[in-house]
Amino acid sequence: DQNIFQAIISHCKEYGFIFQSSEIYDGLSAVYDYGQNGAQLKKNIRDYWWKSMTQLHENIVGIDAAIFMHPTTWKASGHVDNFSDPMIDNKDSNKRYRVDHLIEGHAEKLSEADAAALLATMDKLLADNDFAGLKQLIEDNKIACSVSGTVNWTDVRQFNLMFSTQLGSVTDEASEIYLRPETAQGIFVNFLNVQKTGRMKVPFGIAQVGKAFRNEIVARQFIFRMREFEQMEMQFFVRPGTQKEWYEKWKEERMQWHLSLGIDPSKYRFKDHVKLAHYADAAVDIEFDFPIGFKEVEGIHSRTDFDLTQHQQFSRKKIQYFDTEINQNYVPYVIETSIGLDRMFLLVICSAYAEEDLSTPEKQDSRVVLRLPAKLAPTKLAIFPLTKKDGLPELAQQLMTECKPHFYCFYEEKDAIGKRYRRQDAVGTPFCVTIDHQTKEDGTVTIRYRDTMEQERIPMSEVKNLVLNKIA
Ligand code: GAP
Repeated sequence: DQNIFQAIISHCKEYGFIFQSSEIYDGLSAVYDYGQNGAQLKKNIRDYWWKSMTQLHENIVGIDAAIFMHPTTWKASGHVDNFSDPMIDNKDSNKRYRVDHLIEGHAEKLSEADAAALLATMDKLLADNDFAGLKQLIEDNKIACSVSGTVNWTDVRQFNLMFSTQLGSVTDEASEIYLRPETAQGIFVNFLNVQKTGRMKVPFGIAQVGKAFRNEIVARQFIFRMREFEQMEMQFFVRPGTQKEWYEKWKEERMQWHLSLGIDPSKYRFKDHVKLAHYADAAVDIEFDFPIGFKEVEGIHSRTDFDLTQHQQFSRKKIQYFDTEINQNYVPYVIETSIGLDRMFLLVICSAYAEEDLSTPEKQDSRVVLRLPAKLAPTKLAIFPLTKKDGLPELAQQLMTECKPHFYCFYEEKDAIGKRYRRQDAVGTPFCVTIDHQTKEDGTVTIRYRDTMEQERIPMSEVKNLVLNKIA
């Protein structure tokens, strides 16, 4: 499966989905750029989430808060004190590792039973913050540094994941600010602004999409773990005492969102958190079976009234809601749904990528196809004149003009038709239309379907609506 993963990474580069950041300078580790197809696919995923969260929920509104926030935000949220991971350094290679990643990496080399036992012990030690125990576990298992292969480790220490920078004058110490490590705090500090100006009634939600930054130490596995990434988060504010019910409801609803994309349900599972974050009273991950194993793609957290109460204390401003139904003032409880946009992108690509053997007894043949959900595909329709003459390009351009205000179309007149089809398969275009000499006679075109590779003749005048129906 590592081979498939490598093939997907190469494919993403070759077809303009994802490039290493600053590649001409040999790249920046764990930072990536989205190319022409990637940016469009990412936008389509973002739009699909945004629409399903805001437009389709009358009681959820969207905001767009700044990345920079007042530094006290991160004291109140607990990130200054708690947003750290246990790290360990190898004395010979001077390489630093996140303890859990180091042990997980080692577990991959063990039998299933041994790996499960090792990871269970690790989870318990992490939950207890038992750093000495973690070091002992690494030594007992003779876990070696991947670079030098040595087993000479320092003690386990905490390492904060927030990036800091200076606002304004560099000499003023008070000007140190952080790049946000989650978008959620921009929602919490705006709770009253939105509640009051939108006259929102609990239960209601605030959604947001935006960049977040974490100084991840072991940053590997392509866009799975990045230092600059995008989150799609929603905080749902509820009456205290009802949080369990809403937690279950959002757990279910978020899973349904994933399945609504037509992705194989057997590739999904829930995993309860063993170690709860400093703000949560219940938390579960939605995990997906990536080629690198089952991994987290989304978290649903019951965050209690922790964040709003903290901001109330640190800002000395009352952050409460008056519930007219029960005539009571309270600090609402919060259920959060938090999904990484880049990680969802990786999920979509991994589930879509297929290498197919199309050989017949007469001829060896194969193709690489991205079976993307049509509504997420970067290009919806490719339009090909069979030849560059006889008025066929003009007819094709006519169809382009008709369709491109409604969805992304791609026009190409070079190379054999078969080659053109395969290039569209590789970027996940669900429909291709070929204009030939018969089109001039009877107004019909050949439409070719990506997944089945079947072709049929339909009137050119029906193409636009056919595509619109399939991507709705
Ligand atoms: N506000 C809650 C929160 O931030 P999290 O579990 O730390 O929770 C939520 O992050 C989601 O953000 C994850 O499920 C993952 O999809 C994504 N994510 C977190 N760190 C990431 C990273 N370094 N690179 C890419 N995505 C990341």
